Amino acid sequence: MRTISWDADRECVEMVDQTALPADFRTYHAETVPELIESIEILRVRGAPALGAAGAYGVALSAHQRTAENSGSLLEAIEDDASKIAAARPTAVNLERGVTAALEAARDGESNAVVRGLALESAETLADRDVERNKAIGEYGAELLGQDDTVMTHCNAGALATVDWGTALGVVYSAREAGKSIDVIANETRPLNQGSRITTTELMERDVPTRLIPDNASGLVMQEGEVDALVVGADRIILDAAEQFGEQGVVFNKIGTYKHAVLANRHDIPFIVAAPRSTIDASSSPEEVQIEERDPSELHEIYGTQNAPKEVPVRNPAFDATPMELVDYLVTERGVFEPPLDVSPFE
Ligand code: MRU
Repeated sequence: MRTISWDADRECVEMVDQTALPADFRTYHAETVPELIESIEILRVRGAPALGAAGAYGVALSAHQRTAENSGSLLEAIEDDASKIAAARPTAVNLERGVTAALEAARDGESNAVVRGLALESAETLADRDVERNKAIGEYGAELLGQDDTVMTHCNAGALATVDWGTALGVVYSAREAGKSIDVIANETRPLNQGSRITTTELMERDVPTRLIPDNASGLVMQEGEVDALVVGADRIILDAAEQFGEQGVVFNKIGTYKHAVLANRHDIPFIVAAPRSTIDASSSPEEVQIEERDPSELHEIYGTQNAPKEVPVRNPAFDATPMELVDYLVTERGVFEPPLDVSPFE
C-alpha cells in the first residue's frame, strides 16, 4: 500500500495516519486543504519524499475543491492554497518542490476541468517517480553493504517516509532482496519517536531482524562494534560551501543525525546518506534553510503525561545539519557518490 495516494471516488487525499502508529494502522482522508495542511503539521504524513507527494496532491485537492468561473480565477485560488501548503513545514525541500511541480502543470490548463486534470496527473507522476527512484537508490545503496551487515538508522526514512519502499530503509530492503542477511538497529528518535513507532513497525512487517535502542545508547553500541554502517535519509542537501558547515556542503536531516555522523566517524563506520536528487537544493545557501522548531509540548509532555515542569523553557529543533565532510557516501537514483561532490551534475 502507498503511504499517500489520491482517492478517486472521494476526490481527496488518502494517507496512512502515522500519528496512530504503532498501535493502530489506519488511513486518514484529507478532504479539504486545511485538513491536508494539518496532516502535514502534525506529522500524519511525514518524511521528505512523502511530503513532496503531499504537496503535489494538495494542489490537486485544491484544484478539485475550489470553484471558479474560469481557469484564470481557479488558478488564483489554487496559488493561494499552494503557498499555504508549501509553508506547512519549512525544512524538507521536497514539500515546496511537490507543490511547485503540480502548480506549474496546472497553469497550462485552459479550462477548470483541464486545470484539475493536469494538477492530479502531475501529482500521480511525482508519486510514481518517487517509488521508481527509491528502488534505484535501494539497488545502488545495497552494493555498499556486506553479506551480514548490521545497519543503524535514525528516524524513519522507510516506505512510510516516502510514497513506497523508502530511501535509507529501501537500501536495507534491496540488500535483503539481493540475498544479504541485513539486520537493523533503529534509534528511538526522540521526541516524536519515529524510530520506535514507525521504523520498527515497518521493519517487523517485512520480517527484517530489528532491535530498538534509546538514542543515548547509540554511542555504546558503536563502541562495542555492533554497527557496520549507518544509513539515513535527508530533508535537504546543499552542496554549497558555508563557513558554518564546511567546504563540502551540508545534509539537513532529523535532529540527532549530526551526532550520529560524528560518532560513526569516530568509530570508522561508513556514514551513508540515501536520498533522491529532488532533495538536493542547488538554489539556497545553508544559511537560508529554516530548521523547524516544534512545539514545546513535545517535551513538556510524553503522550499526555507531564514530562517536565510546565514553565521550563524548551528548545525543540526538529532537524540538524551534518557537514558533508562526515558523509562517506551519498546514494541517489543515479548512483553512489563519494564526497567531495562535484556540484554540476546536481544543478
Ligand atoms: O519530522 P519527520 O518525521 O518528517 O523527519 C523525517 C526525517 O528526518 C527523514 O529522515 C527524512 O525526511 C528522510 S525520509 C526518506
